[in-house]
Amino acid sequence: MSQRKKTAILISGRGSNMGALIAAALKPDYPAEIALVVSNVPDAPGLARAAEFGIATAVVDHKAYPGDREGFERALDETLKGHGIELVALAGFMRLLTPFLVNAWSNRMINIHPALLPSFKGLATHERALEEGVKLHGATVHFVSAEMDDGPMIIQGAVPVLDDDTPQTLGKRVLEVEHQIYPKALALVASGSYRLKGQQVVRTSGTGEREAAAPLINPAD
Ligand code: GRF
Repeated sequence: MSQRKKTAILISGRGSNMGALIAAALKPDYPAEIALVVSNVPDAPGLARAAEFGIATAVVDHKAYPGDREGFERALDETLKGHGIELVALAGFMRLLTPFLVNAWSNRMINIHPALLPSFKGLATHERALEEGVKLHGATVHFVSAEMDDGPMIIQGAVPVLDDDTPQTLGKRVLEVEHQIYPKALALVASGSYRLKGQQVVRTSGTGEREAAAPLINPAD
């Protein structure tokens, strides 16, 4: 197999998506290797989890760069380069990025967002989905662009919204789908088997799309 892509995961918190990516990358034929986990929060629980897997960890604390977003991002960029990182996966990384870092990692940085973009950008996505009364909700993995929660979408996973859902029950259902789609998206990007057609990410290998084309209807009966 060709070289596995050296990937860094950026986190700010518990790191359950990070865990899903690490688990996927344990398989020898997975096209990415998780080489580094970086957090902007020194005591993020995900850091300890990553270390348990023997993965290198680093902290770049944004609080050390008051009023200097670019200074923070330069430090982050140097950490990534210092570890020979080729791809970056944001997984619950709670900092808005400036064009400096986004451009430096253009087409090499992906993010997971807990909503079916372009709906519900930003925070509190499950609360807002319930308020709006949508019947399908979900998660999106996308390339990072200069706009928040924007950029070409790589994969989406949808779940039904049930009548008695709370933000917590809905969020749990969405998180399960996040853990399924993020490893698939990283594999697609790391293997390079896609091309960009405008804003559309088109797979250049792989089958099964037609088979998976059954509609998801809610309520179903
Ligand atoms: C996830 O819901 C992700 O979509 C969002 O932040 C949350 C992070 O959760 N960007 P975890 O740290 O991966 O458990």
